[in-house]
Amino acid sequence: MNKPIGIFDSGIGGLTVAKAIKSALPNEQIIYFGDTKHLPYGDKSKDTLVNYSLQIVDFLISKGVKAIVIACNSASAMAFEEVKEYSKIPVYNVIDPIVDYIELHKDISSNVGLIATKATVNSKVYSSKIENCCVGVKTSSLATPLLVPMIEEGFHDDKISSTIISNYLGDKTLRGIDTLILGCTHYPLIENEIDNYYEGKVNILNSANIVAWKIKTLLTKSELLNKEECVGEDHFYVSDYTPSFEKTANIIFSDKINLEKVIL
Ligand code: DGL
Repeated sequence: MNKPIGIFDSGIGGLTVAKAIKSALPNEQIIYFGDTKHLPYGDKSKDTLVNYSLQIVDFLISKGVKAIVIACNSASAMAFEEVKEYSKIPVYNVIDPIVDYIELHKDISSNVGLIATKATVNSKVYSSKIENCCVGVKTSSLATPLLVPMIEEGFHDDKISSTIISNYLGDKTLRGIDTLILGCTHYPLIENEIDNYYEGKVNILNSANIVAWKIKTLLTKSELLNKEECVGEDHFYVSDYTPSFEKTANIIFSDKINLEKVIL
């Protein structure tokens, strides 16, 4: 179907998913919305996240999208059911593909750590879904709220990021894990630093790639894929303009992106 895919997050995090979707599905056009005005989502209540998500869904539908990806773990944890019920087009979250992945690989992932926002950790969505489908797999979750502002402000591969990251990963909650879920779509941007901390000894799950491949399968099944070469340009919208968003987006997409501010 020759229509765009709508993707949203609180900020630049969902761009990691958008980029992975673009690599897996180069024929698809993307309409991205970063709710930078309301960032961070990770400390908001369920009612607030449902409210923001439904407004964004209305906006994306007004742009003619054929499916929506909630490229944010916090909104996926808090608002997926409501968005799915509200929207008349398919909606995908970023949590279920990871749970499916763990189920398939439970022989090598029996002690799974999760780092995520407070909203995602407190929702217990990951731990309850994993415990339901993967008997014997232990999960330990740690809220890491400083990581999103740190990444949005452009701190990575430096002293500040290394201090914050090692402080969190050294927490006793994560002791002994064999697998670490990056349970926030911002975190793939610091994946190398996390991998360096563990010296490659912990299997790091970068949700962006896993989610993109799952979405490819789901869109293929629903016969929603664009069979011709993509002609429409990708569009990126933000609810508040920040130079750091544009800079990171240009780096991630190795190109100058079409960025516009919209008031919902
Ligand atoms: N990238 C988001 C997530 O996956 C939101 C982070 C935030 O805004 O706190 O949870």
